[in-house]
Amino acid sequence: MRQKLASLSLQLLLAVAASLVFAGANAAGGSNYPMEAFDADLEDLPSLQNGYRLYANYCLGCHSLKYQRYERTADDLQIPHEVALEQLVFTGQLIGGLMTTAMDPNKAKEWFGAPPPDLTMVTRVRGPEWVYNYLKTFYVDETRPFGVNNKVFPNVGMPHALLELQGVQREGCLQVPEIAANGGERRDPLVAGQTITHEQCGLLYVEEGTGLYSAEEYDAAMYDLTNFLHYVAEPSRLQRQRTGVYVLLFLIILGVFTYLLNREFWKGVH
Ligand code: HEC
Repeated sequence: MRQKLASLSLQLLLAVAASLVFAGANAAGGSNYPMEAFDADLEDLPSLQNGYRLYANYCLGCHSLKYQRYERTADDLQIPHEVALEQLVFTGQLIGGLMTTAMDPNKAKEWFGAPPPDLTMVTRVRGPEWVYNYLKTFYVDETRPFGVNNKVFPNVGMPHALLELQGVQREGCLQVPEIAANGGERRDPLVAGQTITHEQCGLLYVEEGTGLYSAEEYDAAMYDLTNFLHYVAEPSRLQRQRTGVYVLLFLIILGVFTYLLNREFWKGVH
């Protein structure tokens, strides 16, 4: 009996370990692109609001957020209902409606090879870092149906929805200056004024001036968009963080009174 139990628990352990490995492999999405770190900030309301604006304008046409209501989003992000209805709801829905999309999933599958998935949970399934890097690594690839490919999701069916903001990004080689020990650029000792460079390939770079945003502005916008999706995946996290601050304040004030009371009680004893 005991042996049977032991083997059963071993099996269970193996199953858990296997599922963890599988989840890890899944999250990596089959590419080993070196990811840039992403550090979410739910306290940054302007960032969340901008992320919401970008999502409503560039993503909601294809991707629903069907577990989230417009009203809750507006309230959490402190956007007045009239403003939200006028600027962020394009489907003629009411403020209490779920953030669904008008796209027919069967048609979408025909157009893109895969229907655009609901993104409410995407930062939990893939991780916010994955989403952030995914949005930044669309690049020109003429062999793909929409002319673009992606570094963290190779051969993705999605067109580059933000091309007009980012502009054209290509794979290529750049001459980058070498950095000397003192932190400055290394100079050629034989040719005056000449810096020493080396070729860095496989890097992505943006063709200057093809998008509305500069590279920094685009990075910041993708930060906001990912931050917003991180909020959407667990809206109560925002509330919890705010409640946590009040609880801590309460405990500090209570602590002060407890200390004073304690001192009062023991005053006559010594
Ligand atoms: C024209 C329709 C369209 C638009 C607009 C669009 N997407 Fe997509 N997206 C797709 C399709 C189709 C897929 C599925 C691709 C596949 O599985 O090959 C996808 C996949 C994704 C994925 C990967 C999901 C996963 O876990 O597999 C993410 C993340 C994503 N889109 C984010 C966005 C964001 C953010 C925006 C707005 C900036 C956006 N998309 C705009 C069509 C679109």
